Amino acid sequence: MKTYLLIPLLTFLAMPVYAAKMSMPIDAPKSYEAECASCHMAYPPALLSEKSWSNVMSSLSKHFGTDASIDEKDKSELTAWLKKNATTRQKYSETAPENRITKTSWFIRKHDEVRPDVWKRAGVKSPANCSACHVDAAKGDFNEDRIRIPAK
Ligand code: HEC
Ligand code: HEC
Repeated sequence: MKTYLLIPLLTFLAMPVYAAKMSMPIDAPKSYEAECASCHMAYPPALLSEKSWSNVMSSLSKHFGTDASIDEKDKSELTAWLKKNATTRQKYSETAPENRITKTSWFIRKHDEVRPDVWKRAGVKSPANCSACHVDAAKGDFNEDRIRIPAK
């Protein structure tokens, strides 16, 4: 096949996968897992915009009712890495209200079929607990084929 036909075809084929993939970059600093995955999963950086990551990382001492402060060296390394890998897609680029992925308009829209009581199930606990339903969330895979909603 001619390359000029192949490129649009491949782009088209990759689209549905791309829409649900926010892959965890392979070059995550060790400190990301160590410092940012003890209370919740390590969120793939493409879930937030650059500005939102700056906001999260500059307010770690007051982090959602807890103190998530880390040393300056880790903080500057992680901040740079998170910003470098932040979303580049217009659709996901809004500055997240309250620094929450779960308060962005795209998150709310994508989850409008999830009934309010489902978020409160013991197996879910919080909308921020992505991996309760998206079994491969830690890899940045949010494909609808890999969703298992806990029954209770
Ligand atoms: C001491 C525990 C703790 C540590 C360590 C921690 N967090 Fe959190 N984080 C929380 C809590 C609690 C929430 C709110 C969770 C909820 O609403 O269910 C949260 C929420 C978040 C959210 C928003 C989730 C949403 O609702 O969309 C982001 C983004 C986030 N954390 C990033 C980080 C990053 C980056 C680090 C590492 C620098 C980190 N967290 C380390 C406790 C922690
Ligand atoms: C209660 C279970 C549940 C939790 C928790 C949850 N989701 Fe979802 N998510 C869903 C369902 C259901 C859909 C809709 C799938 C569909 O399109 O039919 C969805 C859709 C999505 C989509 C769109 C997928 C696509 O193919 O377009 C993304 C992206 C996503 N979720 C990210 C997240 C992130 C990030 C978190 C955590 C901050 C999260 N979700 C937490 C259940 C959940």
